[in-house]
Amino acid sequence: MKNTIYTWLDERLHLHKVKSVVDKKEVPVHKHTIWYYLGGMTLFLFIVQFVTGILLLFYYRASAEEAFESVQYIMNEVYFGWLIHNIHSWGSNLLIAVVVLHMVSVFFMRAYRKPREITWISGVILLFIALGFGFTGYLLPWNELAYFATAVGTEMAGSVPIIGQWLLEFLRGGPDITGATLNRFFAIHVWVLPASFLLFVVLHLHQVQLHGMSIPPSVESKGSLKFYPDFLLRDAAGWLIAIGVLAALAALFPWELGEKADPLAPAPPGIKPEWYFMFMFQVLKILPATIGPIAGDVLGVVVFGIGALLLIMIPFIDKKAGVGAPNPTLKWIGIIVVIFIIAMTIWGELD
Ligand code: HEM
Repeated sequence: MKNTIYTWLDERLHLHKVKSVVDKKEVPVHKHTIWYYLGGMTLFLFIVQFVTGILLLFYYRASAEEAFESVQYIMNEVYFGWLIHNIHSWGSNLLIAVVVLHMVSVFFMRAYRKPREITWISGVILLFIALGFGFTGYLLPWNELAYFATAVGTEMAGSVPIIGQWLLEFLRGGPDITGATLNRFFAIHVWVLPASFLLFVVLHLHQVQLHGMSIPPSVESKGSLKFYPDFLLRDAAGWLIAIGVLAALAALFPWELGEKADPLAPAPPGIKPEWYFMFMFQVLKILPATIGPIAGDVLGVVVFGIGALLLIMIPFIDKKAGVGAPNPTLKWIGIIVVIFIIAMTIWGELD
């Protein structure tokens, strides 16, 4: 019976081609193999976000009048609505933490070296997409905290030289945060970002498949592991743990919805962005109002923009990437940047 179904499908879908690709796929084994699990973990968490996001869409209403109440309804009335809502909120945080770890690990293993430049570039774009999901999703419950944090976040966009004001109004759908902003953020969150994600994740995984996993230049390989079933089973064990962690976080530390946003009310004290934007927020906060002839926040935003460009260009900046020789300068720059971001984040959270 199983064989008949397989043969029937194979004649039409050429499944044997997929099977031979999977059969050949191997994962190198060495002392850093553990980091290879983070890409699959990111993918898994994205799938969790897609599934829980679609379930939330069954009840969520994207308007300033109804958004807050619809989320309240999901949390209090819908069967397991609280669980889905909390898994989606915790999942977004975990996903960003894991994708950042994935990026940091491939950076230090220098997995961006030739011929994996496109894997790296598509990865950086995926990171920005993940941050975009977080930024736009935060406003959707239309609660007080999200409302004012979005006001601050979009103000940062307003500091971009030349196109800043246009960008701010484009994001907000006008000069202020209104129902129009919510509509835009919703459209970006459920259409633009998922479509872009699919495009770039297909490119990313295609590249990973084409080039196989890289071995860091400084380590010695101790052979390899078959992707199916050995590596995939270990992956699956990690995913099971992740879903357990998410369910536990959702049950033990539910997200507070707080008050409904009131655009006419004054901003409550202690408005903070999500932790993954905190380092930028903190840097802009401590910069003086003007630095020479330039406004401090404009300079800060420009430096962040240059930082993002440099991040994308890393495979081309690392002059030793082609030959695979160690590059201690880049390694130390990476360590300093990571420490700086962690320090700014902690400072911002405690401030
Ligand atoms: C946001 C979604 C992302 C997904 C779903 C994803 C998924 C994956 C998967 C499944 C792999 C193969 C397993 C592994 O090495 O962990 C991988 C490899 C890789 N990823 Fe990502 N990734 C994402 C983001 C990123 C980011 C932000 C970067 C870096 C900027 C990046 C750079 C790479 C590189 C260079 C490899 C090849 C590693 C090697 O050959 O050793 N990825 N990714």
